[in-house]
Amino acid sequence: MNRAPLLFLGAFFAVAFSWTGIILSNQIAYGKLTPVIDQSDNKAYPLPISGQAQQGKLVYQDLGCMYCHTQQVRRPGYGADDLRGWGDRQSVARDYIREQRVLLGTMRTGPDLRNIGARQTSTEWHYLHLYDPQLTSAGSNMPPFAFLFEKRKIVGEPSPKALRLPPAYAPEAGWEIVPTERAESLVTYLLSLKDTYTYPDEARRVYVAPAANPEGKK
Ligand code: HEC
Repeated sequence: MNRAPLLFLGAFFAVAFSWTGIILSNQIAYGKLTPVIDQSDNKAYPLPISGQAQQGKLVYQDLGCMYCHTQQVRRPGYGADDLRGWGDRQSVARDYIREQRVLLGTMRTGPDLRNIGARQTSTEWHYLHLYDPQLTSAGSNMPPFAFLFEKRKIVGEPSPKALRLPPAYAPEAGWEIVPTERAESLVTYLLSLKDTYTYPDEARRVYVAPAANPEGKK
């Protein structure tokens, strides 16, 4: 008996089912999402990030920050993300629609960074922390990224960007530590990370914590 048609049909359905499950269902769930225009300020959320922040995202990828940090806040009841102050609400698919490459991460050796731009708003804090995490977070086990900074001789006036380091860290007199372009764009990127906008649609469907919503209303 010729089994070729049966084999063909088997292979066809195997591919068709996985394509539907993996590609099509995601396309339906995610691909159709559009930014939400808020009538009160006429802005489209999620807001696009600046070119410098985009550059910083490449530095973030390059340095492997995502091997230790995630960018996804789980809903209350699925971990303690809210109690740790990692976000006021859970992350939703719409938060990521402007991103060509979504950096969810896989491991949480360090805290989730999805809202770090709202949590640590100071550029200087981020510089010091990257230069040596002990400066801002004593006992931190995050590795220092001092190579993102340059030590240079002060010529004329000191740079306004020079790090204000405590004596134990400060370079010898006449020298200063300044952020390189990579450090500047990385910090611009970190400051751009904040999902603080409340999408009306998601607020109704998913923000409501299961415990606060006993009837299971969607
Ligand atoms: C080897 C793992 C590791 C890598 C790689 C790493 N971090 Fe961290 N990071 C940590 C840990 C652990 C902490 C928390 C330390 C503490 O304060 O106890 C942390 C803390 C932070 C914080 C502070 C978070 C907060 O909530 O206050 C920021 C910001 C941060 N990291 C950014 C970065 C960036 C940017 C990179 C890449 C350049 C990076 N980290 C790479 C482990 C890592």
